Amino acid sequence: MRNFTCVQDLGDLNQALCEAFEIKKDRFQFSELGKNKTLLMVFFNSSLRTRLSTQKAAMNLGMNTIVLDVNQGAWKLETERGVIMDGDKSEHLLEAIPVMGCYCDVIGVRSFARFESKEDDYTEKILNQFIQYSGRPVFSMEAATRHPLQSFADLITIEEYKKTERPKVVMTWAPHPKALPQAVPNSFAEWMNATDYEFVITHPEGYELDPKFVGHARVEYDQKKALEGADFVYAKNWAAYQDPNYGKVINRDRSWTVDAEKMALTNNAYFMHCLPVRRNMIVTDDVIESPQSIVIPEAANREISAQTVLKKILEELR
Ligand code: CP
Repeated sequence: MRNFTCVQDLGDLNQALCEAFEIKKDRFQFSELGKNKTLLMVFFNSSLRTRLSTQKAAMNLGMNTIVLDVNQGAWKLETERGVIMDGDKSEHLLEAIPVMGCYCDVIGVRSFARFESKEDDYTEKILNQFIQYSGRPVFSMEAATRHPLQSFADLITIEEYKKTERPKVVMTWAPHPKALPQAVPNSFAEWMNATDYEFVITHPEGYELDPKFVGHARVEYDQKKALEGADFVYAKNWAAYQDPNYGKVINRDRSWTVDAEKMALTNNAYFMHCLPVRRNMIVTDDVIESPQSIVIPEAANREISAQTVLKKILEELR
């Protein structure tokens, strides 16, 4: 695998899951693979889990790691071509990217949707510039439209906890005070569509996702109906995708918060969220603290998903 931006890049998903579980049994068994190789992690946005889990995964493989927070300590970057750079941005991304490529063997990039241009976001302008100009394998640490390392960890977690071969997985929109990208729900939907699980998406009207990601999921506007019999409840907020409201918060309806009454409708479902989570907006304290909440093992599996992806990239570099 050269680059990793979506589920298709992994190839055979069952094979990738087997590799992930093999790594989980002994995460140091490939510690020679990354010897004398350097991972550069470039963050345009904040992170806790992605930063720590990816760095840990790289260290498990014997890699050296460099972390660059673009907005803290680096030159302010211009990303648009053709701009007269007479403002506060000292360096253009088109020089910065190949320079970054000089100092490493693999690059991870986090660059969220900016909600300034739907076209720029949905063509993955920043991530694709890294792929085009760095000269290095590139993997997404959450881009404008997808968060594949998170979705891979989510899938690993569901595989670990599922009690039936074909569980019912419900992704529910939940309220949030700020406009959040669609990357996590898009990506989760894409990965669930790559399985044979029963997959349902529920959200208020106006929060329809890009049909490309919805795929064959059943969309149900009645949250309670959607949750009936669920084995896994995956909560997430996202801003509107459809025009003219792209990137806007059009509803903060707290009747969509996941609470104990809603969880009682499920098949004793496990509660999942990618974190960070706003308590008592997305989910109530009692649900996230309940024994059915698997948000911590889900976060722990970020190390495993990142290590599986890095291993596949390093194997191609040999
Ligand atoms: N879930 C996730 O990607 O967390 P961070 O934003 O903290 O990396």
